Amino acid sequence: MNQEQPAVINLEAPGQAKVVHNFNSGPSILPKEVFEEASRSVVDFNHTGLSILEIGHRTRLFQDIMDEARMLMKQLMQLDEEHEVMFLHGGASTQFFQVPMNLLHANASAAYTDTGIWASKAIKEAKLFGNVEVVCSSKDKNYTFLPKEFTVDTSSSYLHITTNNTVYGTQWQDFSIFHNKHVPLVADMSSDILSRNIDYNKFDLIYAGAQKNIGAAGVNIVVVNKSCLEKSGREIPTMLDYRNHIEAGSLLNTPPVFAVYVCLLTLRWLKKIGGVSEAEKRNNEKAALLYHTIDILPIFKGTVAKEDRSKMNACFIMEDVRLEKEFLSLCEQEGMIGVKGHRTVGGFRISMYNALSMESVQAICHLMNYFAGQKT
Ligand SMILES: Cc1ncc(COP(=O)(O)O)c(C=O)c1O
Repeated sequence: MNQEQPAVINLEAPGQAKVVHNFNSGPSILPKEVFEEASRSVVDFNHTGLSILEIGHRTRLFQDIMDEARMLMKQLMQLDEEHEVMFLHGGASTQFFQVPMNLLHANASAAYTDTGIWASKAIKEAKLFGNVEVVCSSKDKNYTFLPKEFTVDTSSSYLHITTNNTVYGTQWQDFSIFHNKHVPLVADMSSDILSRNIDYNKFDLIYAGAQKNIGAAGVNIVVVNKSCLEKSGREIPTMLDYRNHIEAGSLLNTPPVFAVYVCLLTLRWLKKIGGVSEAEKRNNEKAALLYHTIDILPIFKGTVAKEDRSKMNACFIMEDVRLEKEFLSLCEQEGMIGVKGHRTVGGFRISMYNALSMESVQAICHLMNYFAGQKT
């Protein structure tokens, strides 16, 4: 990278949209063609003369959207017949209590891994429904690594993990340590679903807010192995019982129609580019470049154990807080959005979800090189 180059790389042509690089952690970047198609459909959906915002959810038009969205989720995740896909309301946070409500057997325990803010929120909610065993935690090290030595009581109703810890930038790479615990596996995949090829069938329940890799905020996706339902022995309110949503094909009541539609467009895009394998390849390349840049520039310092680094959210700091402020203003000036780290980590967080291009990662790396060149 040529450090002599001027930092200004974002000159706008008059009348053109401002060029930005969106590293937001969620809601976050989606493919441009999704925005274009979604905005056309707000005015006229599929030449029907109707806006997508005014079609009934019981119409054939919407039924087709829901059917295709669920089918594409199954296809892209290569799910078997046992696994069902639901599009539900309430964001991933609703799953923090809906999961134990449906799966935590009366008089049994659920095992939870405490690997970040979202995991700890899930633990808090599960405790409302029964016994919770926190089997490992990295809280005392500010969640900078993933704890791998732990045991799980085989009588547990399930083991809950967060596959990617959005705030701290850690991501589980090897799932065999969970599979060999021989209890149903539940995963919050909000920030890395569909970003890499894993055997999704080995999970009994997966949930994810859509607003990172799947689509617009306002809907979350739940994938469940039907055989793990029926067991909690608890009375569950109609809208919170997964079985009712499965039976109704995610149309138990009015679904978030537009949010589901944006998911469909994003899933079509993912299929078109080559599916999860192609997304994984691109995500590996983006993460490799960014972490390489962090590692070769002494001014920056990664915050988590290298083996646990997330390919979705990279967190790093600088020793000198004044320099951090200066770098952040430079990012702002150059149209780099969402670079500031979470308040509990400080520094910077670069989110690299599926729709983020390599060009955006190159642009931030270029700026990091330029800044380091100025300061050292
Ligand atoms: C891993 C993880 N779980 C859960 C949530 C909460 O999602 P929601 O805001 O949809 O409730 C988030 C939000 O960023 C997240 O990153």
